[in-house]
Amino acid sequence: MNAAPILRGLAALRAAVAGWRRAGETVAVVPTMGALHEGHLSLVRAARQGADRVVVTIFVNPRQFNNPEDLANYPRTEGRDAELLAPLAVDAVFVPDVEDVYPQGFSTTVSVEGVSAGLCGAHRPGHFDGVATVVAKLFLMTGADRAYFGEKDYQQLLVVRRLARDLNIPIAVIGCPTVREGDGLALSSRNMRLSAAERAIAPALPQAMGRVAAALAAGGALAPALEAARAEVVAAGYASVEYLELRAADDLRPLTAPGVPARLLAAAWLGPVRLIDNIAIPPRGA
Ligand code: PAF
Repeated sequence: MNAAPILRGLAALRAAVAGWRRAGETVAVVPTMGALHEGHLSLVRAARQGADRVVVTIFVNPRQFNNPEDLANYPRTEGRDAELLAPLAVDAVFVPDVEDVYPQGFSTTVSVEGVSAGLCGAHRPGHFDGVATVVAKLFLMTGADRAYFGEKDYQQLLVVRRLARDLNIPIAVIGCPTVREGDGLALSSRNMRLSAAERAIAPALPQAMGRVAAALAAGGALAPALEAARAEVVAAGYASVEYLELRAADDLRPLTAPGVPARLLAAAWLGPVRLIDNIAIPPRGA
């Protein structure tokens, strides 16, 4: 089994992509921050189906961490990441240095309004500017035709779609379903930081969200369902629920009832770890 070549410099990446282009091949990119898990691998498999060549990028982007402790503790597992990618026939793994992505004097920020407001945007100041800036750069550096993102980071997915449209970057942004453990916990690189006791508590969040979905499907009102879910999550052992909200699936405008395709989105703290999740809520009567 041949491991994918690891490219650390932009010149090497550009040369590889130019060769594929000359051969008339299409290119997909899967942007990641490493600490890969089955969720990322599902994106790589989707990319494999969608284009002739697949580039996975691994870059822990300092600009999207509003909390220095979170950046310092973010898992870095490059050797294992390479092993996980080896069987997936990836064509290149782009692992740039921070200085290459943000050279001395770097002074441009991509800021997406609207969909980045509220939810994670309200609780992580600067986070989506950091995401939008690095993703715009990764799109331009790879010149890919298609990009794959997990629906787990639903707000991020909409921010990225918007930036590609607004900046006329000719790339199709494709969202892929969240991958979950058997007990319902959404896969996340941050799950690695949970203790065994915290890991046992963690599924309480998706379970409570599922109960909100069931209550709404049965015609129940939103506010009491959200209140019960918050209480349930804290009673299970979470320290706090940062947000639990129903938003329109297309532009994340706040909703008071599921009249249109919607998303229930949550962030909650379990010990030192902040977990996020979201599920689709069909319009009432659908
Ligand atoms: O979802 C992530 O891992 C990151 O936010 C991304 C899209 C790779 C940008 O750094």
